[in-house]
Amino acid sequence: MKIELNNNKVYLDNHGVKKEIHPFWLRERVNGDKFVDIKTKQRLFDPTQIRENIKINDINLSNNFLEVTFNDGASTKLSIQELIEEFSNNNFIKLIKKIEWDSTLDDLNIFEFKENLFEKEEMYNALVNFYKYGFVIFKNVPTKDNFLINFANSIGSVRRTNFGEFFNVKSKPNPNDLAYTSLPLAPHTDNPYRNPVPCIQMLHCIENKVKGGLSTLVDGFTVTEKLKKDFPNYYKILCEIKVRFQFIDQSVVLEDWAEMIKLDENGNFKQVRFSPRLDFVPLMDSDKLDLYYSARKKISELYNSDKYKVQFRLSEGDLLMMDNYRLLHGRTTYNANEGNRFLQGCYIDYDSTEGKLKHLKRKFNL
Ligand SMILES: [Fe+2]
Repeated sequence: MKIELNNNKVYLDNHGVKKEIHPFWLRERVNGDKFVDIKTKQRLFDPTQIRENIKINDINLSNNFLEVTFNDGASTKLSIQELIEEFSNNNFIKLIKKIEWDSTLDDLNIFEFKENLFEKEEMYNALVNFYKYGFVIFKNVPTKDNFLINFANSIGSVRRTNFGEFFNVKSKPNPNDLAYTSLPLAPHTDNPYRNPVPCIQMLHCIENKVKGGLSTLVDGFTVTEKLKKDFPNYYKILCEIKVRFQFIDQSVVLEDWAEMIKLDENGNFKQVRFSPRLDFVPLMDSDKLDLYYSARKKISELYNSDKYKVQFRLSEGDLLMMDNYRLLHGRTTYNANEGNRFLQGCYIDYDSTEGKLKHLKRKFNL
């Protein structure tokens, strides 16, 4: 990719394909301190107020800079490297390749909590691992004074829900969700009935005196790819049909219609939703429903299979951070008479992890 000039016009040569760069596009990017606030990088001018027939009066290209003067008197010196980066639309987070994993995964992405972790390079590595595997575990995170909230807000911002800023996971009388019992929880994604679904869940183990209650994780991405390969008609219908997910309690009715497998605009994996106690398929032709029910049964079989599940014990101080769009989580049963099992959970969204990751990349020049 390179920039070329011809007759007061600027061209981008993208591996032999030449395209003119619109003069207005360059005019919007003028960057002297008269035009852009140095600290925030925000424009000090409103580009919708600039006249439309912007032309280039004068231009100069060197190895590192493109200097342009426009017919409205504005002039600027643009970094070639920054222009090329913008053209290549390199969102490095999107380029982090997801690694498929199953029950044979033995490295559980464990990182040690330490003072000022959130501004250290280890945090960058932890977040990169989070995008590769969909989860990461931090050890020895302080368990006093709801430190989870402090932790979450040091990455981004807590996403509050009707369960509150955070929720306590322990068996309690008259629970409004099965999470608050000692029953086993099959692999599921959280809150499929919300719009938008919270992106990331954090679960912090405050106390664990029971032998059971092991945490389970399944990679929805691995399972989806398996389904796509072996059962394409099941994959297709689960990508197509929007089902109704609902949550009801005394004070709220939450509902959303969504696909169990959601693809992005390029047809690639984006999100799974799975919570078979909360999903209601619309009435469709019997043939279609037959196919849908078989597909749901198959994906449930895969999600619940030991082949895809990792299982581990969360100890006091362990904080599990998992991608709720990619992974399913659950737990094995436990005997509440053995002692306390107390976890605290909260949610954050992708803007938190993406913002922190990009900040650390910039800070350490990675
Ligand atoms: Fe859950």
